[in-house]
Amino acid sequence: MTNCQNHTVVFEEAKRTLQFLAETGCSGFECSKKSLDTVNKWGKKELFSKETLETIQSDLGDCRRCKLSNTRKNIVFGKGDPRARLVFVGEGPGFDEDASGEPFVGAAGKLLTKIIQAIKLTREQVYICNILKCRPPGNRNPEPDEINKCFPFLKRQLAVIKPDFICTLGTFASQTLLETKKPISKLRGRFYDFMGIKLIPTYHPAYLLRSPDKKRDVWEDMKKLMKEY
Ligand code: URA
Repeated sequence: MTNCQNHTVVFEEAKRTLQFLAETGCSGFECSKKSLDTVNKWGKKELFSKETLETIQSDLGDCRRCKLSNTRKNIVFGKGDPRARLVFVGEGPGFDEDASGEPFVGAAGKLLTKIIQAIKLTREQVYICNILKCRPPGNRNPEPDEINKCFPFLKRQLAVIKPDFICTLGTFASQTLLETKKPISKLRGRFYDFMGIKLIPTYHPAYLLRSPDKKRDVWEDMKKLMKEY
């Protein structure tokens, strides 16, 4: 038996055992019909091939996976072309985004729109989303437990969109996707690989509103992006 056939046998066995335990009501294995259907699809291509942004959003539902759900008004899922070649990833919704359910619609969002236009694109041609889908109270920094709960949904969105480029905006988005603690000042200015996608980190537009002299650096990053795009 080849290694691959061996894996398939072990896999099928594990699947059948799990299904048996769940269907016969063994304690510790209580699960919904939906979970059982998912187990049944393990190892089959169809598990993720039918995934769309809509199915991810419906899976997210009225998310209560972290404490931000207690204070948010709206979940900000993401917006733009589901087949965009370029995805911008910010930190998390602010006051205006929480109120409207749309990413980057406040002051920082207006500056992001200008950045997108400067690279000869429109908001409708790109996809805009955040590390967190719910607003941290008072716009405080995202906390690790919140990122851990929310990030898998962003990864699934990126796997569906399959962009050629990701531009991470600011420290949190860049550090989360690149799994590093390096400051954004050290990360920006070059491309990295994320899930086979070219990722370029740059400063967050909200930071640019406070430090307009950094716009020059962002423009340098955007020129690099345009050249590759
Ligand atoms: N800042 C972010 O990081 N994301 C938004 O959607 C708005 C402001």
